[in-house]
Amino acid sequence: MPRDAVPQPVRLSDYRPPDWLVDTVDLDVRLHPTATRVIARLGLRPNPEGREGSAITLDGDELALKAVTLDGEPLAGSAYVATSSALTILAPPQRALVLEIETLVDPSANTKLMGLYRSSGTYCTQCEAEGFRRITYFPDRPDVLAVYTTRIEAEREEAPVLLANGNLVESGDVEGTSRHYAVWHDPWPKPCYLFALVGGRLDRVSDEFVTATGRKVDLGVYVEPGKAGRAGYAMDALKRSMRWDEEAFGCEYDLDVFNIVAVADFNMGAMENKGLNVFNDKYVLASPETATDADYANIEGIIAHEYFHNWTGNRITCRDWFQLCLKEGLTVFRDQEFSADQRSRPVKRIADVRLLKSHQFPEDAGPLAHPVRPQVYREINNFYTATVYEKGAEVVRMLKTLLGEEGFRAGMDLYFDRHDGDAATVEDFLACFADANGVDLTQFALWYAQSGTPKLAVSGQWDEAARSFRLDVSQTLAPTPGQSDKQPMVIPLAVGLVGPDGEDLPLVLDDGTNAERGVLLITQPKQSFVFRDVAERPVPSLNRGFSAPVKLTSDLSTAELVFLARHDADPFNRFDAGQTIALAYLVEATTAARTGRALSPPEALVEALGSTLEDSALDPAFIAQALSVPSEGDVAREIGTDVDPDAIHDARKALRQTLGEALAPALKAAYARHAPSGAYSPDADSAGRRALRNASLDLLAAGGSPEGIARAVGHFERADNMTDRFFALSVLAHSAPDAREAALAAFYERFRDDPLVVDKWLALQAQIAEPGTLARVGGLTTHAAFSWSNPNRVRALVGTFASINQTQFHRADGAGHDFVADAVLELDARNPQVAARLLAAFKSWRVLEPGRRASAERALRRVADRPGLSPDVSDIVSRSLE
Ligand code: PHE
Ligand code: ZN
Repeated sequence: MPRDAVPQPVRLSDYRPPDWLVDTVDLDVRLHPTATRVIARLGLRPNPEGREGSAITLDGDELALKAVTLDGEPLAGSAYVATSSALTILAPPQRALVLEIETLVDPSANTKLMGLYRSSGTYCTQCEAEGFRRITYFPDRPDVLAVYTTRIEAEREEAPVLLANGNLVESGDVEGTSRHYAVWHDPWPKPCYLFALVGGRLDRVSDEFVTATGRKVDLGVYVEPGKAGRAGYAMDALKRSMRWDEEAFGCEYDLDVFNIVAVADFNMGAMENKGLNVFNDKYVLASPETATDADYANIEGIIAHEYFHNWTGNRITCRDWFQLCLKEGLTVFRDQEFSADQRSRPVKRIADVRLLKSHQFPEDAGPLAHPVRPQVYREINNFYTATVYEKGAEVVRMLKTLLGEEGFRAGMDLYFDRHDGDAATVEDFLACFADANGVDLTQFALWYAQSGTPKLAVSGQWDEAARSFRLDVSQTLAPTPGQSDKQPMVIPLAVGLVGPDGEDLPLVLDDGTNAERGVLLITQPKQSFVFRDVAERPVPSLNRGFSAPVKLTSDLSTAELVFLARHDADPFNRFDAGQTIALAYLVEATTAARTGRALSPPEALVEALGSTLEDSALDPAFIAQALSVPSEGDVAREIGTDVDPDAIHDARKALRQTLGEALAPALKAAYARHAPSGAYSPDADSAGRRALRNASLDLLAAGGSPEGIARAVGHFERADNMTDRFFALSVLAHSAPDAREAALAAFYERFRDDPLVVDKWLALQAQIAEPGTLARVGGLTTHAAFSWSNPNRVRALVGTFASINQTQFHRADGAGHDFVADAVLELDARNPQVAARLLAAFKSWRVLEPGRRASAERALRRVADRPGLSPDVSDIVSRSLE
């Protein structure tokens, strides 16, 4: 796409099958740092479902065409039209034919990191969504599936390792030269976005896996030389993922080889190329000295995610990019279930919901809101969003809640059976669940079509005389961009009625039926449910396990919430009750901070957290989650309008200090009780103990008391693993301005040669909620450790500043907004995808108070007015201002 050419919107309703199909792709790639030659031999035939007699139109992007032949004969110049963005064969014979295309590409000049590029010297590719057209001319759309054979040739010295999709069929030296080659064949037809090749000097960690039917698979994890010692956990996670997918979904691996390559420069987290996953090294490399417990958990989840795509994404792919959630939402659901099985299910659920609320809810509430399956896009790269991924996973989870374990599995089995080898749609997916269960999912499908977070208001009424309890439920869905009228949704609302003794009462509806699996089916704008035989006043526990991704408000009193925080049998709601109390308090405290009003102390919260801390039956990881006060972003979202980030920050800081003081004895006891025993291990139990110990340390130091700070300094100095060391450093950075600089300097000296650890150091400094931070961050952009061309560095420093640091990004003088706008413009010429993601940090600008809102708008307009914007940034900025 040439700069300044504003891309035309692509609409789902305009979908047409391809006119030509490609059955085989034979690639011959001669790697060269600046002039890689690609010969693509395509076996094409007219699509019986396409338009008759049509030209062959192939996509391209920044390609230099060298030669074209048709069935072995050079094509006359009049027979085709070639530009850098398309190749059209004008009047091709309407039969099966072979087109051979030779192009030249420059991997060293490829700063967009799409197509063929180099990362620390290694040649690698990234083709999703539309990167293959940067390697050769091709019908670059996911419904064109072909069998690929790839020959790679390179200098043996420069690239001793040569990898591509599928199985290795041949390799050797190119006689009489210093070059060598490898030929890979992938028997499974695939769309071109799943193509990959890698060439470089890499170390390999090897293992093997025997599948359920006894086939042996060679496993390899490739990393930069010298880093093989950090790849063991990724390999372990891979083997556990392969076993789990057989057991949980009956999905077996289907090639002789499965390779993973870790690269330092990558736009996203990782990529599921068939048999050759390419990863951001951040999600492969881990050692106790360099990775935190959170890093280990992310590696486990992302290794699983990419592996699970082998069936949900690769064997069954997407018909078009509107169906992205078909592979992403479903695969996120699968990786969440995997992690829940490997670790603590309730703690995993809490973490996933927190992520959903902090990333997806604001997206759904702002100018970038879009349905899980969008209807229109101008730049597909901008739709790899929390809505498509995280809300997409929630929609699949709701299907499971509605259909039950067995009904869900029956639907999945039918999906794999019916659509293996297809490029499918959301309709195809839903039809499998409807057919396998004999249910109608027409209304449920609205979850894919309507954007915005539904609001659910619930109130309860106990009738002592009738011994019954009534729940009145009403749902609303506010207008979102492009959608003014909404229809009511299907909401599976899991509930419990908690009796005075803390035990759940039986859920018998007034017609004598049981609420199946404790789930009430909400389908109307307003509905009531009456439970019978309720002899004592219960406390309703609503949306248990966060069964639906809605914003729920209820008439529960603070005392009832404290009761649930102590007694709810549903761990998620036990956690959530505490958060609801804290959030309500913070909203009030924010208003108080702005109006100078006095506020009563947070007694209910102290009471709730106090009993959680003292409950020895609880998982330490759960207690740690309960102790974490809602974020500044959470509070801003709850307030929703006229937001003053400084007031929120002050209120939250004061609350944390108060909690630290009020709970000091219990926090000190928890800190002491969870002291490490033995060497570091990343398992969930050990990580949970560290999480609780560190959460205690954090609250004890929150007020900046000398005792709390001394404890954090000691923790930092004695730490023998990155989790403890970095946590202590964060406490010092946020709560101890005097101890901060020395600790940051010591940390940098120790890890300066380790880019992934330097990222933590950059990100932490970007989060400090003080006026000096903007200058600090600006200064760090010229630090030797920083680089605008590495996406991880940019996200760590500038991305963290914009997305986490509410007070400094939204500085009252507008300098934070200006800084991020400048960074976006600086980046756009180099890497539009990374620039566009950074710009999306402005997505909630309209909720700010008028002064900050004006400065955000000025910054956005300045970006919009810059000539020559990429389609990526131009799309985000125009939607943000709409
Ligand atoms: N498909 C990748 C995933 O597993 C994400 C991705 C998208 C990676 C686009 C690179 C480019 O979620
Ligand atoms: Zn994915």
